[in-house]
Amino acid sequence: MKVSSSKFNEAFAELNCIENNTKMTSKFLNFQLYNFMNSKTILITGGAGFIGSHLVRLMVNKYPNYNIINLDKLTYAGNLANLTDIENAPNYEFVKGDIVDAEFIHDLFDKYQFDSVIHLAAESHVDRSIANPMEFIMTNIVGTANLLNAARSIWKTLNPPLTPPKEGELPPFGRVGVGQTSNLFYHVSTDEVYGSLGNKGMFEETTPYDPRSPYSASKASSDHLVRAYYHTFGLPVVISNCSNNYGSHQFPEKLIPLFIHNIKNNKSLPVYGKGENIRDWLWVEDHARAIDVIFHQAKVGETYNIGGHNEWKNIDLIKVICKVMDKQLGRPEGESEKLITYVTDRAGHDLRYAIDSTKLKNELGWTPSLQFEEGIEKTIAWYLNNEEWLNNVTSGAYQNYYEKQYASR
Ligand SMILES: NC(=O)c1ccc[n+]([C@@H]2O[C@H](COP(=O)([O-])OP(=O)(O)OC[C@H]3O[C@@H](n4cnc5c(N)ncnc54)[C@H](O)[C@@H]3O)[C@@H](O)[C@H]2O)c1
Repeated sequence: MKVSSSKFNEAFAELNCIENNTKMTSKFLNFQLYNFMNSKTILITGGAGFIGSHLVRLMVNKYPNYNIINLDKLTYAGNLANLTDIENAPNYEFVKGDIVDAEFIHDLFDKYQFDSVIHLAAESHVDRSIANPMEFIMTNIVGTANLLNAARSIWKTLNPPLTPPKEGELPPFGRVGVGQTSNLFYHVSTDEVYGSLGNKGMFEETTPYDPRSPYSASKASSDHLVRAYYHTFGLPVVISNCSNNYGSHQFPEKLIPLFIHNIKNNKSLPVYGKGENIRDWLWVEDHARAIDVIFHQAKVGETYNIGGHNEWKNIDLIKVICKVMDKQLGRPEGESEKLITYVTDRAGHDLRYAIDSTKLKNELGWTPSLQFEEGIEKTIAWYLNNEEWLNNVTSGAYQNYYEKQYASR
């Protein structure tokens, strides 16, 4: 039978269409399968805080197939206004609650059956830990223990069950190797657990712990508990210890936002001691990137230091802030520096922190993305452009605390 060329073309087009549709359908199904296989329900604790809110934003935007549950007590440091841009995202949910409440935490894990936990919730301000250590002991130690117990209780029923790792081996449960994440308890910690450095040297992952403040001691205790649950029960864990962070959305009782706020309002800049203490500063979005990399690629049981290779004496840092503020506010150069006043040093004030993050760079390829000069300009511009955010957080409670902390010095 002879088929006319137009009929043939029609039939060919139809076949092509079916094939294309089939390809599209199979691509769609593959995508759905990919999503299904890679979908995870992840608990991020402390996601309304400074670093947590940056991490939540990154995870919600970058991984639409992950369900991100943000658990936060909303203490003075937790602020949901940090997350207005993603609060309606379909893969995001906020739960208000206290990690110290063991029963609540147990029920929460039962309900959501989290695949992984990234734990940032903490009392985090050293000065507050000196005024009220028990809050720190409860949240940072007991709260972490509650989360570990809950993770253990839902993950131990998996096949194979949790068992402690043999010397030199990965646990038989959780990740099967680098690059694979199934269940993971990721504990976010601080370089302050290592204590204080002299003029030389850097903190490495093997540096012995030597915490000096109730804050750093409570974080050190929680790190020890996390490692103990790995060695004793085989709970798949990872820990990172990071240097000082700076960036947008930080509660303005910490040094950088406090001084930006004070300079803007022509208030004095209280510098502890002679301002000789040295800190290593990292842009908060680079910390969130590092957590993402570690979460997805680290080996179970490992510890990674995260730092900016960016050491500053407090007084020099403050002078840089003054200089950039003068420029951004259109003030004569040197004007803001006149606000500097020296106050009695903090008890047990560690002299120097410096982090060696070579392991993270060599094993997982992470390096900071931003130079400090660019980061600090960006940060100052953010606080100046977000006056409403700053005014909202500098509420009565904050002012009372500020008075108590600095007025009598
Ligand atoms: N800020 C830094 O420079 C820095 C550096 C290294 C490590 N860290 C660590 O990173 C984590 C986050 O630090 P941050 O600066 O974002 O702190 P932050 O104080 O800004 O935020 C902490 C969050 O935890 C919440 N929270 C406190 N107690 C809670 C509780 N009992 N239950 C539930 N939620 C609670 C608060 O409401 C807040 O949203 C902390 O674990 C801290 O130790 C911070």
